[in-house]
Amino acid sequence: MDLLEHQAQELFAKHGVPVSRSRVASTPDEAHAAAAEIGGRVVVKAQVKTGGRGKAGGVRLADGPDAAREVATAILGMDIKGHTVHEVLVTEAGDIAEEYYVSLLLDRSHRSFLALASREGGVEIEQVAAENPGALARLPVEPGTGLDRPQALRLAAGAGLPDDVHEQVAGILVRLWNVFRAEDATLVEINPLARLADGTVRALDGKVTLDDNARFRQPGHPQYVDVSATDPLESRAAEKNLNYVKLDGSVGVIGNGAGLVMSTLDVVAYAGEQFGGVRPANFLDIGGGASAQVMADGLEIILSDPGVRSVLVNVFGGITACDAVADGIVQAIGLLTGPGETIGKPVVVRLDGNNATQGRKILAEAALPGVISADTMDGAARLAAELAGKGA
Ligand SMILES: Nc1ncnc2c1ncn2[C@@H]1O[C@H](COP(=O)(O)OP(=O)(O)OP(=O)(O)O)[C@@H](O)[C@H]1O
Ligand SMILES: [Mg+2]
Repeated sequence: MDLLEHQAQELFAKHGVPVSRSRVASTPDEAHAAAAEIGGRVVVKAQVKTGGRGKAGGVRLADGPDAAREVATAILGMDIKGHTVHEVLVTEAGDIAEEYYVSLLLDRSHRSFLALASREGGVEIEQVAAENPGALARLPVEPGTGLDRPQALRLAAGAGLPDDVHEQVAGILVRLWNVFRAEDATLVEINPLARLADGTVRALDGKVTLDDNARFRQPGHPQYVDVSATDPLESRAAEKNLNYVKLDGSVGVIGNGAGLVMSTLDVVAYAGEQFGGVRPANFLDIGGGASAQVMADGLEIILSDPGVRSVLVNVFGGITACDAVADGIVQAIGLLTGPGETIGKPVVVRLDGNNATQGRKILAEAALPGVISADTMDGAARLAAELAGKGA
C-alpha cells in the first residue's frame, strides 16, 4: 500500500526523521487557516499517490495565508496523471541550498534490502541512475542487523555528499531504517532531502510503501487504507479474508490454489472468445481446506457482483477431498438461499482429484437447481462462458 506524502511524513516524524511543520487541508479556507498557523512563506502541495506533482503544477509557493488560499483553490480538484486532488499539504517553505536523495527499499532480485543515496536529488532518480550512475551510491542492508551509523556514513560519503552534512545525513538514514523496519515498509524514500540555508538537513518530500502482508502485526496501518479508492467487493472480500481480485468480465470464478485459479481465468477467457468475448469477472482463491463457510462467503461475493452472469467453481481435490468440497457447495447454497429460493445465476462445478467421484455423486444427489456438473476444466469453462454469453 502506497501512502500519501503527509502520511509518510507522519511516520518520519514518529521515528525522528526531521520534517517541516505542516497541516493537511481539504478546502481553500482550511489552507488559509493552516498557512496562518504555520506563519511566513508556505508551500502548498497536492496529496496524490504519484510523482511529478511539482512539474504538473501541484506544488506551489505561497507568501502568506491569502496566497495559500488562492493556490489551494487552483490545486484542489486538479487532475494529476489520473489522480484527483482532494487534499493539499500546507507546509513551511524551506530555504533550499541543496537537494539530495535517500531511500531504503526491498531489492527483490538480490533477496535483500538496499540503501540508496545521491547528491542529485529533487529530480527523478531513474534519470540520475540512467544518466549519471556514479552519482547514485548503493549499499546492501542485511535484514538481521540493519543499517548502522558507520555504514550510513560510508553511504553518505559514497554518494559524494558534502563532508559537513555526512553526520546529519547518516543520522537520518539510521532513523529511516527504523521507519522501514518498524513499520514493515518495502520502500521509504526522501526526494528531496534538502540542506537548508541554515545548514540543517530535512525531508521535504516523503514516499512510503507499506507491506500489506505485515498488516496483521501493524494495528495502526489500516487507517491508511483509502476505502474510497478500493473496490467495494474487494473490501468485503478482504474483511472475510478472501483472496479476491475484481476483474471486469461476466464469469465469476472460484478455485482452490492460486495457480489453478490463474489458469482457470485463462481457460475462461479462451473459451469466451467463441461467445462474443466473454471474460472472467474475478480471481478468487479459496485455498486448501476450504470450509462450507468459506465457499459460501466466496459465492456470496461473486453472486453480488452485478457483472456476473454465470459462476465457475473449479476445484482440484487434494488434502481437502472433493466430497468435502461438494458438501461445502451444497451447504453454501443452503446458506445463501431461503426455502424454495434458487441461486439465480447458473453455477458450473468441476471437481477433479481426490474423491472426485464421491464429490460429483453428492452434487448429483443434491440436485440443486442451477448447479451443473462438468467433467473437465475445458468443458466447464466452455459451459460457463456460454451461459454468461447467453445471459447477455
Ligand atoms: N517545504 C518546501 N519548501 C521549499 N521547497 C519545497 C518544499 N517542498 C517541496 N519543495 C520543492 O518542490 C519540489 C517538488 O516537490 P516534491 O518533491 O515534494 O514533489 P514531487 O511530486 O516529487 O515533484 P517532482 O516529481 O516534480 O519533483 C522539490 O524538489 C522542492 O524543490
Ligand atoms: Mg519529490
